[in-house]
Amino acid sequence: MSYNLLKGKKGIIFGALDPNSIAWKTAERVHEEGGEFVLTNAPIAMRMGQINDLAEKTGSQIIPADATSEEDLQNLVEKSMEILGGKIDFVLHSIGMSVNVRKGRAYTDQKYDWTQKGTDVSAMSFHKVMSSLYKADAMNEWGSIVALTYMAAQRVFPDYNDMADNKAYLESIARSFGYFFGRDKKVRVNTISQSPTPTTAGQGVKGFDGFISYAEKMSPLGNATALDCANYTVTLFSDLTKRVTLQNLYNDGGFSNMGVSDAVMDAFVEKE
Ligand SMILES: NC(=O)c1ccc[n+]([C@@H]2O[C@H](COP(=O)([O-])OP(=O)(O)OC[C@H]3O[C@@H](n4cnc5c(N)ncnc54)[C@H](O)[C@@H]3O)[C@@H](O)[C@H]2O)c1
Repeated sequence: MSYNLLKGKKGIIFGALDPNSIAWKTAERVHEEGGEFVLTNAPIAMRMGQINDLAEKTGSQIIPADATSEEDLQNLVEKSMEILGGKIDFVLHSIGMSVNVRKGRAYTDQKYDWTQKGTDVSAMSFHKVMSSLYKADAMNEWGSIVALTYMAAQRVFPDYNDMADNKAYLESIARSFGYFFGRDKKVRVNTISQSPTPTTAGQGVKGFDGFISYAEKMSPLGNATALDCANYTVTLFSDLTKRVTLQNLYNDGGFSNMGVSDAVMDAFVEKE
């Protein structure tokens, strides 16, 4: 169902890799709601080619950018304004990667140049994206910037490894930069803390299947899907949430406020 919530709004969407990506679902929903956007991803992700289908489907152009490169980001911001014919109303940062996770390195035995790479890609890139937009004065007043995060920033999930630290950093950047963006440009900045979701990045985490079914059993509403996340993001890009900023917003079926659920207790009660 479409409500035309984003009619006339223009934006940039980072991180659509394949149809499972949260950014992919978000691009589809933003398009349905009347928003126009440029799609971007790391040059290496372009080679997989699937993003072209999304671009065609949503009438979008693609500008490759490595989100760790200030030069690529400046170019992206400049070209996006040319393509979209003016300043930007919304930005989705949907980027995450840990080399330690990928290579199965334990949290207690990290290879620190991998740690640094992961931090740069998963967290510092958010600062770089916002800095490029801020310095180019590229955002319209009452615009909205959203990044995606996970609750391992607040609670311990051992297999999430150094991504937990990256997400804590990401959420802090949202608050710190959000202050300046709000004060100077009337732009809001928030993070959405999403349930475990079966995507390429999600499934890279060791024990993901256990992770996702545990969260499903703990959450009174069940896990939020990628589509649920897309819908929530649409509301944050819309004019209906103009003064929501500096927040970490849970889209997790209630998981973050649970202690235990009947379904989880049942697994521990001795059967007679
Ligand atoms: N899947 C989950 O369980 C889950 C839960 C909570 C939060 N998140 C977050 O949601 C976001 C999107 O991930 P997803 O689950 O849709 O997986 P995904 O693998 O589909 O998306 C991750 C994206 O990051 C991009 N990327 C990696 N390095 C990059 C770089 N240097 N420059 C630009 N882009 C780069 C990848 O190409 C990919 O498109 C991430 O921030 C992730 O941490 C995911």
